[in-house]
Amino acid sequence: MDSAPPPDESARPGSPGIRGRIRAPKPNGSGARRPGRRVRATLVAGGAGFLGSHLCDRLIAEGRRVYCVDSLQTGRLGNLDHLADDPRLVFMEHDVRRPLPVFPDVDEVCNLACPASPPHYQKSPIDTVTTSIVGTLNLLEMARDRGARFLLTSTSEIYGDPEVHPQPESYRGNVSATGPRACYDEGKRVAETLCFDFIRQYRTDVRVARVFNTYGPRMRLDDGRIITNFIGQALRGEQLTVYGSGRQTRSFCYVADLVEGLVRLLRAPGAVAGPVNLGNPEEHTILEVADLIGTLTGRRIVLAHRPLPEDDPQRRRPDIALARRLLGWSPRIPLREGLGATIDWFEPQIATSLPLADAEAFPSPPCGNGRGPRPGRGLGG
Ligand SMILES: NC(=O)c1ccc[n+]([C@@H]2O[C@H](COP(=O)([O-])OP(=O)(O)OC[C@H]3O[C@@H](n4cnc5c(N)ncnc54)[C@H](O)[C@@H]3O)[C@@H](O)[C@H]2O)c1
Repeated sequence: MDSAPPPDESARPGSPGIRGRIRAPKPNGSGARRPGRRVRATLVAGGAGFLGSHLCDRLIAEGRRVYCVDSLQTGRLGNLDHLADDPRLVFMEHDVRRPLPVFPDVDEVCNLACPASPPHYQKSPIDTVTTSIVGTLNLLEMARDRGARFLLTSTSEIYGDPEVHPQPESYRGNVSATGPRACYDEGKRVAETLCFDFIRQYRTDVRVARVFNTYGPRMRLDDGRIITNFIGQALRGEQLTVYGSGRQTRSFCYVADLVEGLVRLLRAPGAVAGPVNLGNPEEHTILEVADLIGTLTGRRIVLAHRPLPEDDPQRRRPDIALARRLLGWSPRIPLREGLGATIDWFEPQIATSLPLADAEAFPSPPCGNGRGPRPGRGLGG
């Protein structure tokens, strides 16, 4: 993808930009309206991605109309296939760096548009940083125009390689402005700045979630993250690649828990004064995760240790005291249960297809050591 947004002729709901499988709502479409009740809509940018598609599911289940705007850079229409016949979902292929059309009924705007895994966001770093900055600006302008509430999915990568553990929202982070991850980290930092400037300057109703590692069905097998790497390797009968000793810890939040947190933050009454961490504070070593995936897949696990990348954080764990207090939210789904559901989702795909096709579609960027992607490092998202 070039760094300039591609020309887009299809920036209208219901236009030919909608890929046949996803339909525009009918003017008074069945299911979209009940007599006497005005259906409000949420715009979900990045709604064909992993988290975005689960958020679309949740909003549709609530009875809202959902405008899903996605460039399909890393997202897939297949993530929305099950909603193809639902008149409340409108899909529009569109790059959020380009001006957006008017959606008269939108009163919530959720911005999830941004590739989240290191191989994907480093593949085209200028696209990544401009998507976060220009895309967020466009969507904030839209929320301001419509008087809509705005939600940004920021990231724990804001904290970089943290010197404080666990990371509270007040920690300002240890981030390189020039390294290969800066396109993501710094893009999100500016996106957060824009959010809080819109609150200060225009009193736009904005909420910012700092999302920590999240996993579940609809992740991409080629996203270079530890859970997808391990599941893919285990199910293919390969050795599991462990960087370093494997005693470094990570925390993983199941997607259903995360979506619940996002929705609670979006709907929290009153103004929300700052960013809110959403993630699972339970820490696991990489070795524990490998062992659990071996148990759940029923495969005998053989580890292949590789040197630890230089900038690999030893620990990353959210402090979620604020989310507990403000939203009454904390993750409920244990790792074993979430991994089981994720394996169940991947198993038939691995049995019937080779991940090579995906890997070729998103080749890994060269990393400093020339060894390609570094799954153990790529946990932030
Ligand atoms: N998954 C995680 O663990 C995690 C952790 C922290 C933060 N986040 C944030 O959550 C959001 C969603 O992450 P995800 O894991 O679902 O990633 P994803 O790559 O599956 O989804 C991102 C979606 O944004 C779309 N997109 C990218 N650039 C776009 C553009 N310019 N215009 C329109 N659409 C565009 C992609 O096609 C994709 O559908 C991202 O903002 C990410 O930074 C995710």
